Amino acid sequence: MSRHAWQRSPEEFAAHLAQVTPWLIEQLQDDRQPWSPCAPGEILAKLPEQPPSSPEPLSTVLEDLQSIIEPGLVRWNAPGWFAWFPSNAHPDAILGDLLASATAQQGMLWASSPACTELETRMLEWLRIALGLPENFREGGSGGGVIQDTASSGVLACMVAARDRTTAGLATSKGGDACGGLIAYASEQSHSSVLKAAGICGIGRDNLRLIPTDEAYQLDTEALARTMEQDAQAGNRPCFCCATVGTTGCGAIDPVGRIADICGDHNCWLHVDAAWAGTAALVPEFRTALTAGSDRADSWSFNPHKWMGAAFDCSCLWLADRSHLIASMSIDPEYLSNSASRSGDVIDYRDWHVQLGRRFRALKLWVLLRCTGVDVLADMVRAHVGFAQQIENAVEGISELLLAAPRTLSLLCIRHTEGDDATQDLIDRINQSDRFAVTHCRLDGRLVMRVAVGTLAVDQETVDAFIAAIRT
Ligand SMILES: Cc1ncc(COP(=O)(O)O)c(C=O)c1O
Repeated sequence: MSRHAWQRSPEEFAAHLAQVTPWLIEQLQDDRQPWSPCAPGEILAKLPEQPPSSPEPLSTVLEDLQSIIEPGLVRWNAPGWFAWFPSNAHPDAILGDLLASATAQQGMLWASSPACTELETRMLEWLRIALGLPENFREGGSGGGVIQDTASSGVLACMVAARDRTTAGLATSKGGDACGGLIAYASEQSHSSVLKAAGICGIGRDNLRLIPTDEAYQLDTEALARTMEQDAQAGNRPCFCCATVGTTGCGAIDPVGRIADICGDHNCWLHVDAAWAGTAALVPEFRTALTAGSDRADSWSFNPHKWMGAAFDCSCLWLADRSHLIASMSIDPEYLSNSASRSGDVIDYRDWHVQLGRRFRALKLWVLLRCTGVDVLADMVRAHVGFAQQIENAVEGISELLLAAPRTLSLLCIRHTEGDDATQDLIDRINQSDRFAVTHCRLDGRLVMRVAVGTLAVDQETVDAFIAAIRT
């Protein structure tokens, strides 16, 4: 059969798959130096300025992948990756992603992909059950869940929905003045995406009140209650509050139940950001601390693409009452009109976030959850927490080091007793070790080394070597 140059025969595709497979496998057996040694511009300088006009063999592309691109990869899969948070690509999720790409689905509407839509509905429900999240997030009643690309997009979508709930839709229809007096709240330790969302959605960055935290870096609920009350007295409109379950800096868990009481007094939307720590709710003995009070939250999000291994990107968001989000996000141009949507019997996920087109992310969750299973993922989390405990015990035995905050799950914040310069020196030496990667944050203005245990490959030998490294 004759083919055009832009087409590939099944035999060619199969041969290409076989050609890339060794490289894929190599990525997962990753014990190379985690940080890239590249200097700025080094990769760019090796890439031709002009696009290729005629075909090149895949083998040539793979050679360049190895020689040009690979040095610029940061090894997030490496066993000694303790930087930021894990961003795990489990082999089962990689396969799911590959399968999803091959299906070329565009899941904006039920009609544009019934499978993408309905598998997503089921996956959100599986995960809701697996995390022990409350019934009111369940699809079927007024609630429901959706996959967003990132937690940042999720918090923006919820802030827009909250803004519209408070202004009875005027902010969307009229813009500008309708946002006057709207106030958002989050702790000083909340993720920067909350501040970004406040700027984008018209509430304004200056109208995000960053509430102080207590000695464990959890949002101070008395300060929140006082601030909201003062805002209400001054004629402002408390609109959106973000509670963080597992802050980015030190993993602090805000008291969601008490925050829900305060939000309830002011009809203020409560969003729970459990981007990293949410995965640990797979473990029954960790669950209560992570989900308490969430039955009174308006929205709750976590990133399976972080600790759970779902391969970036995949962020799950649940709503207690989906109608607000849908009211803010739905738009109905003629070219998308179809009988299934008109029937009201189907979900069109394009109405649940900013973008129209959407990837078939549910497929990688499906393959991951089926081939690995929830219990095994829970065991992984337990093991990682156990490794972090070992590092914590070791730090307690080193007189020059101390824990700058209580350990949360598998995240540790360590500093040197002699101050910031000594802590920076520790961070630099660890990062120059060729084996480990760590990042930093500041707590109470002091520099802290963050150690976030959680890659798929981390093992006892790596943890022992890390402990030996911080001892020396
Ligand atoms: C607590 C928290 N929320 C939100 C985010 C943002 O995540 P994303 O990259 O999915 O937007 C992060 C990222 O690390 C985070 O730690």
